[in-house]
Amino acid sequence: MDRERIVTAMSRKEDEDQTLRPRFLDQYIGQNDIKEMLDIYIKAALKRKEALDHILLYGPPGLGKTTLAQIIANELGVQIRVTSGPAIERSGDLAAVLSSLSPGDVLFIDEMHRLPRFVEEVLYAAMEDYVLDIVIGKDQESRSIRIDLPPFTLIGATTRFGDLSAPLRERFGVVMRLNYYGEDDLRQIIRRTSNVYRNAIKADAVDALASRSRGTPRIANRLFRRVRDFAEIIGDGIITNDITTLALTKLGIDKNGLDQTDYRYLRSIIENFGGGPVGIETIAATISEEMTTVEDVYEPYLLQEGYIKRTPRGRVATERTYRVLGIPYYKGLLDS
Ligand SMILES: Nc1ncnc2c1ncn2[C@@H]1O[C@H](COP(=O)(O)OP(=O)(O)OP(=O)(O)O)[C@@H](O)[C@H]1O
Ligand SMILES: [Mg+2]
Repeated sequence: MDRERIVTAMSRKEDEDQTLRPRFLDQYIGQNDIKEMLDIYIKAALKRKEALDHILLYGPPGLGKTTLAQIIANELGVQIRVTSGPAIERSGDLAAVLSSLSPGDVLFIDEMHRLPRFVEEVLYAAMEDYVLDIVIGKDQESRSIRIDLPPFTLIGATTRFGDLSAPLRERFGVVMRLNYYGEDDLRQIIRRTSNVYRNAIKADAVDALASRSRGTPRIANRLFRRVRDFAEIIGDGIITNDITTLALTKLGIDKNGLDQTDYRYLRSIIENFGGGPVGIETIAATISEEMTTVEDVYEPYLLQEGYIKRTPRGRVATERTYRVLGIPYYKGLLDS
């Protein structure tokens, strides 16, 4: 890649700005269905003085899964232990974190789809019966011992729901899908960010940022920080529409929030493969990107916004893509 991608929804060090993270449910903007359900489940668990059921959160990066996990723990008034699929290499690692929990605590496992299979199997009994079955010793000497665990709530997060095994999915009492945010929600998030950072922003600049944030709070906040730099150095600190447009143009982001990587992706389908269908591996190779990155990070937004379609034989560029790229569209005529 020629330079770091600004509209990637992937997490970066600077995004871990805790001051921006809403801490309670009523500060969490959008995802109203999810909030409404969680509010009930949390209140019910508190009322019964029981651990909340295990929750699986899935959806594209940067939509607020980690934030929501922390909010749930805050609302329950319990501790949260945070780990991730790839960090748990041995069942002993899992045993260590599980036995550190107090009754009612939240265990947050990020990137759940990267949990090793044998660790997953240990997790089943822990989730179902709050017990830990571990094997100690080797060969003939080995025996299994059972350790009781306190009741706890597992919150799993993943960007790849389809990669979770069925038995694991079935052990979550609640499964929630986060969706891309609408522009109203994004405007609210941007205004909230401007309050937290104490940077004034004009209404039309809020609109410009919201429409280029790819439905993603993480991107909205990242673009906000970049535009703020321009406002402070070139302007007088106030984020105006002119400064926003200037900054976003310099960052290579068009009015739909698409950047050079999106354009390379879309162009390759049309220019190299006649508009598709073309397999994702082939596109990824053509634009020299990892297939999983293309699938998890670039494509979800392009699909949702109707730039591409997924068919059994591969990706197909839609009329919208031809229009955006300024290439005449004949496909529909040929097909009909
Ligand atoms: N509903 C929201 N309201 C306000 N801010 C939000 C909301 N959701 C997310 N954010 C902001 O966006 C940032 C990214 O959210 P978060 O890290 O929770 O995403 P994620 O879904 O866990 O991403 P990943 O899949 O990369 O782990 C947070 O730091 C937070 O500031
Ligand atoms: Mg996260």
